[in-house]
Amino acid sequence: MAVKDREKKNSRLKVKIGSVKLPNPTILASGVLGVAAGGLIRAWKDGAAAVVTKTVGLQPRSGHPGPRIVGLYGNSLMNAMGIPNPGIEDYLPEINAAVNQSIPVIGSALGSSPEEFAKVAVALRKAGVTAIELNVSCPHVGSLYLLGMDPQSTSAVVSQVVKQTEKEIPVWVKLPGSTDYPRLVQVAKAAEKAGASAVVALNTLPALALDVESRRPLLGAGIGGLSGPAIKPIAIRAVWELYQSGLTIPIIGVGGILTGQDVIEYFLAGASAVEIGTGVLTRGSTIFTQICDELTEYMKRHRIKRITQLTGRMKSQDVKT
Ligand SMILES: Cc1cc2nc3c(=O)[nH]c(=O)nc-3n(C[C@H](O)[C@H](O)[C@H](O)COP(=O)(O)O)c2cc1C
Repeated sequence: MAVKDREKKNSRLKVKIGSVKLPNPTILASGVLGVAAGGLIRAWKDGAAAVVTKTVGLQPRSGHPGPRIVGLYGNSLMNAMGIPNPGIEDYLPEINAAVNQSIPVIGSALGSSPEEFAKVAVALRKAGVTAIELNVSCPHVGSLYLLGMDPQSTSAVVSQVVKQTEKEIPVWVKLPGSTDYPRLVQVAKAAEKAGASAVVALNTLPALALDVESRRPLLGAGIGGLSGPAIKPIAIRAVWELYQSGLTIPIIGVGGILTGQDVIEYFLAGASAVEIGTGVLTRGSTIFTQICDELTEYMKRHRIKRITQLTGRMKSQDVKT
């Protein structure tokens, strides 16, 4: 089905993340298919409303030794890629190829200082991306994880990026995978105050899996990031805590989404859109179309005109924390 026809069919699914308008709430998460332009374009053609690039830095990074990714029970994964990327200069052609097809591309940036984050963000903005997503949260690049768990450091990065991009582009902050919900709220509020336009919750959770015969970690780097259905209830709780906290910028939920029902859960907890990573690896990129069809079916069945009406509508009087 052509993209335009699909958008007409799923007209109840339009969302806004600040100034970013999207035809449906599903976005390709960073690091999954986003390494080359072909993957970004495929995810969009298969129904993603926007696509996040692989996280890119100023200089090339070779990443961690293998194995870098292992499958776990129940469609969950662990990875310790170490953010291999060619550096922003060499990555620009991939971004250009997707931007030239009018695909909303979100540029994911990392840096070793606020200035470095800002230089990458400026290059991404020049390339025509729709928004910047700051990766202050990768659990297998320790310095990034620590950055995103610290409100002041996160605020310094966001301020510098917002300033250097002249407030001309939305800046999203990707929060660390953590069950320290009060800390996540502090970081999100610091990011909001520094000028962020949205928060993305969550990155993978730091975790360890072992091979009992060799007594070694399964992943080459030892510690990795857990993703997929295993983290969904944790990420949904994070979204709910952020929503309850009075944060005024939109929350983009991510973690373990495989079905339309999963997306509805995120919306009820307080999300305004979602990103999908592991689900694309385990189910293929047509997961976006399948989820949108399931969402439209749910909306019709419940006579709901716009998906935005569901944000934060969980019946929460029974929740004890
Ligand atoms: C193989 C793999 C690579 C990833 N690379 C990145 C990355 O480069 N930058 C980033 O911010 N998140 C990265 N992530 C995290 C995902 O974007 C997402 O936040 C996380 O996997 C939870 O969502 P999911 O359960 O739908 O995968 C990666 C995840 C996986 C599985």
